[in-house]
Amino acid sequence: MKLLQIDSSILGENSVSRQLTAAIVDQLRASDPSIAIVSRDLAADPVPHLTLATLPAANPDARADLDQFKAADIVVIGAPMYNFTVPSQLKAWIDRILVAGETFAYGDNGPKGLAGGKRVIVAVSSGNVYGAGTAYASYDHLATYLRAVFGFIGIEPEFVTAEGIAFGPEQRAASIEQALGTVSALAA
Ligand SMILES: Cc1cc2nc3c(=O)[nH]c(=O)nc-3n(C[C@H](O)[C@H](O)[C@H](O)COP(=O)(O)O)c2cc1C
Repeated sequence: MKLLQIDSSILGENSVSRQLTAAIVDQLRASDPSIAIVSRDLAADPVPHLTLATLPAANPDARADLDQFKAADIVVIGAPMYNFTVPSQLKAWIDRILVAGETFAYGDNGPKGLAGGKRVIVAVSSGNVYGAGTAYASYDHLATYLRAVFGFIGIEPEFVTAEGIAFGPEQRAASIEQALGTVSALAA
């Protein structure tokens, strides 16, 4: 079993999403001690923006991120909300893994996901709250976007969410505790 951990927060030690991805990875390692873990820090070691020369479809040397994703059985992704969507660091990585003919394909009946069978667990953190019925629900282009991205390639992602992080220390602590509570229910 191979696990790929992707972090993208720029906030280092203070990052909520990093705290959650660490807890998720610990939980999965506890339920399967033989799991092989590869960790990527997209803030410390960013994936450059795509260029024509680095399009994975056209350049075999630019396939490293794609191959690493394809090889993983479980992908744990830290997704802090920056300006209502994922950090550009994470978007740059997504641009390397959604590749026609590799993770999806177009056929007579339209697009088809080719990456099914993989598990994707996303740790979301946001300053505000975006749940159904809340005032800013329509501003959420993070969970909705990632559901579309992974759904398109054949994966239904699971979410661990800590919202309202900017509402003050008590709400921050309560949101993190609630999210960590859902982590303990995850099994490998
Ligand atoms: C550059 C930046 C942009 C942010 N934009 C939003 C936003 O659009 N909506 C929101 O609810 N919170 C926003 N926040 C708050 C973060 O989502 C919140 O601090 C969250 O905990 C970040 O995850 P992290 O702690 O893992 O970095 C932003 C924070 C930063 C640093």
